[in-house]
Amino acid sequence: MAKKLLYAGIIATAIVWISACSKDSEDEFTTSQCNTDNMKYSTDILPIIQTNCYGCHGNGIVTNGIDLDGYTKMKVQADNGNLVGVVSHANGYPPMPQDAAKLSDCDINKIKSWVQNGALNN
Ligand code: HEC
Repeated sequence: MAKKLLYAGIIATAIVWISACSKDSEDEFTTSQCNTDNMKYSTDILPIIQTNCYGCHGNGIVTNGIDLDGYTKMKVQADNGNLVGVVSHANGYPPMPQDAAKLSDCDINKIKSWVQNGALNN
């Protein structure tokens, strides 16, 4: 029994340790594997939104008053914080895409980067 507890303690410590380290390497991994520099609406962001969101918020489909079709409507949701809130599953936002897997970290980081740079029509 005592041995089991000791084991559990060692494993728990190891997990905390490993996840603390992998956090650092994950950041490096993200920057080296996922390019989020100079994100462009037309070539980087639009394809992500078309693939994952237009089924409910594009091509003439407007769910819950949200339309992401085209730059102008996207810009509204980018500027009011909803876009980053929903894709990153932040507290207080309905997680999107609804009823589907969360976007990849890379796609989420691309969207964040585009929004942080002013959500330009580029
Ligand atoms: C299967 C349909 C569906 C898909 C796909 C979908 N949404 Fe939604 N979306 C909804 C529904 C339903 C709501 C209303 C949810 C609520 O208010 O609880 C909503 C609400 C929203 C809102 C408003 C959030 C708020 O705070 O009021 C935004 C912004 C949004 N979606 C963005 C997106 C984005 C970006 C994607 C793609 C990554 C996406 N949605 C994919 C159905 C969908």
